[in-house]
Amino acid sequence: MVDKFLEGKGALITGGASGFGRGTAYAFAERGADIILVDINEEQLEETSKDIAQKTGRKVIPIVCDVSKSDQVDAMAKQAYQELDNVYILFNNAGIGVAYGKNICRVREEQWDHIMSVNLKGQWLVAKSIWRKMKAQKFEPLSGKIICNASAAGLLLIPELPAYSITKVGVMALTKLLAKSLAPQITANAVLPGFHITGIYMNSEEAVQTVLDDQNIKIPLGRIGTVDDVVDLLVYLASPASNYITGQCIPVGGGVCI
Ligand SMILES: NC(=O)c1ccc[n+]([C@@H]2O[C@H](COP(=O)([O-])OP(=O)(O)OC[C@H]3O[C@@H](n4cnc5c(N)ncnc54)[C@H](O)[C@@H]3O)[C@@H](O)[C@H]2O)c1
Repeated sequence: MVDKFLEGKGALITGGASGFGRGTAYAFAERGADIILVDINEEQLEETSKDIAQKTGRKVIPIVCDVSKSDQVDAMAKQAYQELDNVYILFNNAGIGVAYGKNICRVREEQWDHIMSVNLKGQWLVAKSIWRKMKAQKFEPLSGKIICNASAAGLLLIPELPAYSITKVGVMALTKLLAKSLAPQITANAVLPGFHITGIYMNSEEAVQTVLDDQNIKIPLGRIGTVDDVVDLLVYLASPASNYITGQCIPVGGGVCI
């Protein structure tokens, strides 16, 4: 039996159809949360939402939205607060990896613009769309929690993932600025996954291993990461055990950032 510390609370998860977003949605719903699941991939979103609702018995509301588009984000946030009376947790997670293998000077302008708008602007837009209502919620001692998904790439600065790495440096800065601006009612922290098998790697261990080999990266704990390795940290950051932590960017990559 898990502790249902999220009972009566809502969680809004972007990029929720797959990977870390999906894994976290199951974990939060198992702990009692009702879920707003946001994704651009309508088919996978419907499938994931139905499965979580069926397995956990919680309310799971799918909302199709491109997080890089402010009109879609505003409409999504409005609908989220019509469906649930609170959003206690925002997991700002949607992200893409494009243009692997090109050094910083070879990234094309449209690739740069695309990844910046999804990975960085998207997290800013979603936080902007919910912070006022989140701050006004009457939970004690915190009215809400924001958790951003950055990456070990934001610390390692991977030459073959230059634009991606820069977006994740930006997400870390965004997290700290949210923490400073929204305290004391709201905390904001970031998780920094290392190398995990998810949709961003076509769910292929081989794809992850290729990047590790190319970059000559060794994982001190000796294995590629799983979704659950990151979900466990998300559960901690969503729980009362982390209520005195804000503005922190926490690597969860088997020691890859040491
Ligand atoms: N997998 C890893 O090893 C790893 C490492 C570090 C950080 N991350 C980060 O984890 C986050 C989640 O990715 P994942 O690894 O679970 O991959 P994933 O591809 O399985 O999940 C990402 C989800 O985001 C959705 N998405 C993409 N663009 C969107 C948009 N514009 N609007 C709304 N939804 C959109 C996708 O449809 C997908 O469902 C990303 O921010 C990624 O950068 C992943």
